[in-house]
Amino acid sequence: MIMKILKYGAPELRAQSERITNFDGALQKIVADMFETMYSEPGIGLAAAQVGLNVRLATIDLSAGEDEGKKMVICNPEIVSAEGSQRGDEGCLSIPGFSESVTRPQNLVVEAQDLEGKDLRIEAEGLLARCLCHEIDHLNGVLFIDHLSPLKRTLIKNRIRKLAKAGEW
Ligand code: NI
Repeated sequence: MIMKILKYGAPELRAQSERITNFDGALQKIVADMFETMYSEPGIGLAAAQVGLNVRLATIDLSAGEDEGKKMVICNPEIVSAEGSQRGDEGCLSIPGFSESVTRPQNLVVEAQDLEGKDLRIEAEGLLARCLCHEIDHLNGVLFIDHLSPLKRTLIKNRIRKLAKAGEW
């Protein structure tokens, strides 16, 4: 089932998500729906907060559905180390139509749990490191525009306000 993706302005996107404690069938169904929703856009990452679910969960697939082996589910992720830096364009399904250059760590180690609750350790670099940072931000109510300069952020907010006024957001 394709879920509705919340857009910038929705209070759910600013909430602190809660840890997952039940790795059950309901969670599996949510994850299946999140992949379907993410692929329908298409996108390479989706956090549960973006579909209005207040849990520390994200789906990631850098191939956007082209390669089954690239599917990744992270539950309760924590960044345990971050090194280096990279700058590159970043967008978000909750802020459609906007992308800006964001600085992120080049290398990242994340500890998380998989769909069964088993411990996962992910050593990531480049785009995967960027994507993990972006999704983990979502679980803490942080959006990529929060990493921009105040001027750039204000410009984007003003454009969104205009779109909202015109009923196009
Ligand atoms: Ni996003």
